[in-house]
Amino acid sequence: MSILFEPIKIKNLEVRNRFVRSATYDGCSDRNGRVTEKQIKLFTDLADGGVGLIVTGIAYVHPSGQISPFQNSLAHDALIPGLKRLTRAVHDRGAKIAVQLFHAGRESARFLEGKKEQAIGPSIVSDDLFFQKEYHAATVEDIRVITRAFGDAAGRANAAGFDAVQLHGAHAYLLSQFLSPYTNRRDDEYGGSFENRLRLHREIYLDIRKQVGDTYPVLIKTGGQDGFAGGLTFREGSEAAKRFSQWGFDALEISQGLRGIWYEETEFRTKINRVEKEAYFRDWSKKVKRMVNIPVMMVGGLRSIELMEMLVEKGETDFISLCRPLIKEPHIINAWKSGNRARADCISCNKCFERLVRGETLHCVLNEKK
Ligand SMILES: Cc1cc2nc3c(=O)[nH]c(=O)nc-3n(C[C@H](O)[C@H](O)[C@H](O)COP(=O)(O)O)c2cc1C
Repeated sequence: MSILFEPIKIKNLEVRNRFVRSATYDGCSDRNGRVTEKQIKLFTDLADGGVGLIVTGIAYVHPSGQISPFQNSLAHDALIPGLKRLTRAVHDRGAKIAVQLFHAGRESARFLEGKKEQAIGPSIVSDDLFFQKEYHAATVEDIRVITRAFGDAAGRANAAGFDAVQLHGAHAYLLSQFLSPYTNRRDDEYGGSFENRLRLHREIYLDIRKQVGDTYPVLIKTGGQDGFAGGLTFREGSEAAKRFSQWGFDALEISQGLRGIWYEETEFRTKINRVEKEAYFRDWSKKVKRMVNIPVMMVGGLRSIELMEMLVEKGETDFISLCRPLIKEPHIINAWKSGNRARADCISCNKCFERLVRGETLHCVLNEKK
């Protein structure tokens, strides 16, 4: 049997194979951040399709970090019953499920503006080339509130039956903003040195552990490097990953730090039409894997089963993490398991993402009925 279908453990959590559904925002929650029937269907389709571990989309831990009206929330206890239904439905089908703990930082500005509220970021960047919306620099009290919100959200995730939590430390969002010297120009204990730019991660990690204990799997998706010059370097991005493993995180998924302007400078690159263009974070994941002793998840443009097998066999990664291919073909893992070795159909056009931004729910445009 292919190595991809061997069970593998994250701490004490046994996953039935090495496939992860990488976190994918679906725009399907109700306006109060609750789980809907549509989401139960989406997740049960994925679980029926054979994936080992499903990571939900971004779930906001505090209203100041919300980014969309149709985004799941972990900010109140009242959300737990709906989340329990979701985790039970996935478990009944043999898959495991983690929830992605999220705060958008200054990226909440567009959404909060509509509510006449102001977003929070690490600091104001006067010469910013990427971001023009208004927000304010987080006070130490803001930081305390957000830290506690992450811990409380992890406690709720545990109570709702999630097998793990994944802290969102990548892309354009709060933790990436604190880690990057481009967006973090603070001069207090949360800015300046590399240690200081990692302080929020550390405090959040400790608060999560306080809520869930030592045996519960706590994962992080982290940025290897920012998508433009002058931001986080791979030297610091990989060192951060190493620190996360030393602190006690249980698995790492290596992705983009802050995004640049073009798709090619983001986590969802396009035109992956040849095997040479696949696995675009391979180099970062492989190098990080050599620096840590916890499982690593490689994500980013993986489409061909031969390549995935080779990456795991060579020890460059422990897990294969997929997002867009599973939007097009939620059952592709079972198809591969049954011997079909065709490359994923996904053409990486990013229309799934663009439609979500327009307010539609998650789907592949190639699957739209003509
Ligand atoms: C429609 C869409 C939604 C996404 N939502 C999330 C998300 O909620 N959290 C996250 O960490 N990454 C998110 N991503 C990034 C993916 O998890 C993944 O890192 C990226 O798409 C590269 O993997 P792929 O080539 O297999 O799609 C999203 C990507 C897409 C296309």
